Amino acid sequence: MTDLQIITSNNGKLREFKEIFGDSKYIPVQNNIDYPEIQASSLEEVVDFGLDWLQKTTKPPFVIDDSGVFIDFFNGFPGVYTRYIYDTIGLNGVLRQMEDVEDRKCTFRCVLGLLTESGEKQKFVGECSGTLIKELRGKGGFGYDPIFIPHGFEKTFAELSSDEKNSISHRGKAMRKLIDFLLK
Ligand code: IMP
Repeated sequence: MTDLQIITSNNGKLREFKEIFGDSKYIPVQNNIDYPEIQASSLEEVVDFGLDWLQKTTKPPFVIDDSGVFIDFFNGFPGVYTRYIYDTIGLNGVLRQMEDVEDRKCTFRCVLGLLTESGEKQKFVGECSGTLIKELRGKGGFGYDPIFIPHGFEKTFAELSSDEKNSISHRGKAMRKLIDFLLK
């Protein structure tokens, strides 16, 4: 078994890493070190900067995760600002901004950045499309899960079991690509 550092202070993300890595030969271990998240136009740029910054201070291998929700009606906003919006106006504020919006389609994206033991950088991307509903439903998951219904389902991410969420989620998809890479 090999430890793999996951650099995050988000316990929801860490839980999903542990669930998805399951009984692969890697054990996700949390590292709470804070790194700057730059203002950029894509999650990929945020991850590239994070990997470069952390390379100077932290011994690899490690993984970082930058995620966001891209709402069609707002031309992809909040995207890279997803956490800021969550921390400022919260889910109720998002629902208020969307009160009269009919087109509620959106896509969750997750970009995972890996720095390997030999200093190689890799990124893995996963996406999950769906709609934002008009109220909060469900107690599971974290973040925007209570207002997001993935395409083809009737339950929110917060109402689905964690296995169901992980099997279709942006993070689940990105993480399975990461695991395939690690096992090669
Ligand atoms: P960051 O990746 O730490 O910048 O956070 C992005 C924002 O997206 C945070 O507000 C998270 O709560 C939210 N988020 C990331 N992944 C998920 C998810 O799987 N479900 C719901 N919200 C998420």
